[in-house]
Amino acid sequence: MTSYKELGLVNTKELFAKAITGGFAIPAYNFNNMEQLQAIIQACVETKSPVILQVSSGARKYANKNLLKNMARGAVEYAEELGYKIPIVLHLDHGDTYELCADCIESGFSSVMIDGSHLPFAENVALTKKVCDYAHGKKDYVTVEGELGVLAGVEDDVSAEESHYTKPAEVQEFVSKTGADSLAISIGTSHGRQKFKPSQCTRNADGVLIPPPLAFGVLAEIERKLPGFPIVLHGSSSVPIEYVRQVEKFGGKLSDSVGIPEEQLRKAAKSAVCKINIDSDGRLAMTAAIRKVFAEHPEEFDPRKYLGPARDELKKLYAHKNKEVLGSAGQA
Ligand code: G3H
Ligand code: 13P
Ligand code: ZN
Repeated sequence: MTSYKELGLVNTKELFAKAITGGFAIPAYNFNNMEQLQAIIQACVETKSPVILQVSSGARKYANKNLLKNMARGAVEYAEELGYKIPIVLHLDHGDTYELCADCIESGFSSVMIDGSHLPFAENVALTKKVCDYAHGKKDYVTVEGELGVLAGVEDDVSAEESHYTKPAEVQEFVSKTGADSLAISIGTSHGRQKFKPSQCTRNADGVLIPPPLAFGVLAEIERKLPGFPIVLHGSSSVPIEYVRQVEKFGGKLSDSVGIPEEQLRKAAKSAVCKINIDSDGRLAMTAAIRKVFAEHPEEFDPRKYLGPARDELKKLYAHKNKEVLGSAGQA
């Protein structure tokens, strides 16, 4: 058993309390490899932002749990070496079983998500409560994120055709029965690079898809039911058109890509939403940079020559998000 405190990590408790009163959101960036982790830490140290490092169960299988644990320890030391100690959380993204959550907690995670959103309400409550009882009973309190409502798109092995907004009438009972520390909700965001069908969008003069607004009314209703309680938004990539165009210019195919506009995320970050999950934008930034290197230098075969530029682009993107969208810059 490794406690997250031994790795130099923190849980989400204080970070969320500060984010709610301060009207900003903590970035939750997914990572699977060293270059992504370097970019996240560089961006968050440079902007003096707290950060949640997210690991999906797929990422854990891809990267290896022991490597991940030591990468998180390394991230804490790397931030200090870069000159500024930022709070770092290691969080399981979309945990699907009690056993996976417990295993992550045993190997140094400071926070876990148990995603029972696809289950009937009572089963979601029972599973989330079981994880909370375990996580909260540890000597070093581990925070737990639950989810109510279904996001469209793919969440690891779980996929849904359509999103179902969170029902505000259910949130108080869910939180009080489970003891969850934060709640992921569905208000129209979804995973991946195609957040809406073209038929749900309009197009601007350049043919770019313009998505419908998020359901801020549902968010407001949830905030009324759970005053001061930390809310989480998944599926919050903006899918920047510049990256989509760069990928397509250099041979990729990413038709009908559409994300959540930055103004809407900025508005959400000022509310009780205090954790915003971003993965797809990072994938796009890295892919765009790598495709450019290969198109312009077909002779290149040193991985540092394409992963390096990909890492630099990712750092630029995340620094921008911290400063201009989430408001987390300067909050560490
Ligand atoms: O919500 C899903 C995240 O983007 C993680 O994706 O399961 O492919 O690692 P993944
Ligand atoms: P995106 O696909 O919008 O980046 O969402 C990521 C996410 O919610 C991870 O849990
Ligand atoms: Zn998610």
